[in-house]
Amino acid sequence: MDVSDLDLDAARAAITAAATVDELAELRKRFVGKGSIAARARESIKTVEPAERPVLGKAVTEYTKAVESLLADAETALGPAPPSEPPLDLTLGGHGRQRGHLNLVTQCQRELEDVFVSLGYVVAEGPEVEDDWHNFEALNFPPGHPARAMQDTLYVDLGEPEQVLLRTHTSPVQIRLMESQEPPIFAVIPGRTYRNETVDARHSAVFHQIEGLAVDRGLTFGDLAGTLEAFTSAYFGKQLRSRLLPSFFPFTEPSAEFAITCVFCDGSGCRVCSQTGWIELGGCGMVDPNVFLAVGIDPEEYTGFAFGFGLERMPMLRYGVEPIKTFFDNDDRFLSRY
Ligand code: DAH
Repeated sequence: MDVSDLDLDAARAAITAAATVDELAELRKRFVGKGSIAARARESIKTVEPAERPVLGKAVTEYTKAVESLLADAETALGPAPPSEPPLDLTLGGHGRQRGHLNLVTQCQRELEDVFVSLGYVVAEGPEVEDDWHNFEALNFPPGHPARAMQDTLYVDLGEPEQVLLRTHTSPVQIRLMESQEPPIFAVIPGRTYRNETVDARHSAVFHQIEGLAVDRGLTFGDLAGTLEAFTSAYFGKQLRSRLLPSFFPFTEPSAEFAITCVFCDGSGCRVCSQTGWIELGGCGMVDPNVFLAVGIDPEEYTGFAFGFGLERMPMLRYGVEPIKTFFDNDDRFLSRY
């Protein structure tokens, strides 16, 4: 064997003439496979003159590479045509996993907590199942007092009749805080409350309130007004106007109702504010001396203010959500929007 046996032109002619992939396989055996021209030339390297060995080695390698490349091109040309359309995608469609998030009421609660924490308040909690003392009596609602009728109470069938109940407001936590610590107290108390209420667009038997209590020496009604304005304008925006109207609650004296200008009509009167231009957010006032006496705080030494607002009210007004039950319905179309 010598270099001249490696006839690339002959190989090219045969490969070009091949009509099928099978024929090409045969040609591969003949030119570069076992016992082929190239294989025999490679074997003969060790028998030729040492000086010729590198020449023959290089020639075999180049010949083999060239034939393989010709074969590969021919195979591509004769092989099955590549699909003209992209292959059908049979993977299943994208149902991305969505992350859950907090309900709008909880978001509002957290936002308001942050406002109060920045004013130096602590966030406090209390039980939802209460006793008559904390929910009513210590708050200056004596037994049989007509003011109890303001709150349609759901009683729990436990102990003495009408002694255990689902708290009708977050105010009993005021009593618990004052029973367990000395003034100064600056606390905000968000939580769930219950009333035997006929459900309508704005009322639900289960709802939330956010309560505030401040007890210290020298607190005045002006401090209360400033605090309410600070927290409502933090939530609704600085342009908000608010007012306090005289009202009555057994546990505050004087008492007031706090209202903001209607966020829908800007005070000119519309359906939402019943044409008054104002929307009531909750009650407030100066802690009644009788309440201080019930928890052993000296009303001559300390004064305090308190307030209690409906929590759902705030996102209802800010985002125009109605009816109130939308918050609790678990309809993902609503929940995922906020
Ligand atoms: N607890 C009252 C209610 O649910 C609201 C309230 C009024 C709370 C005046 C207060 C307050 O702390 O001072 O109707």
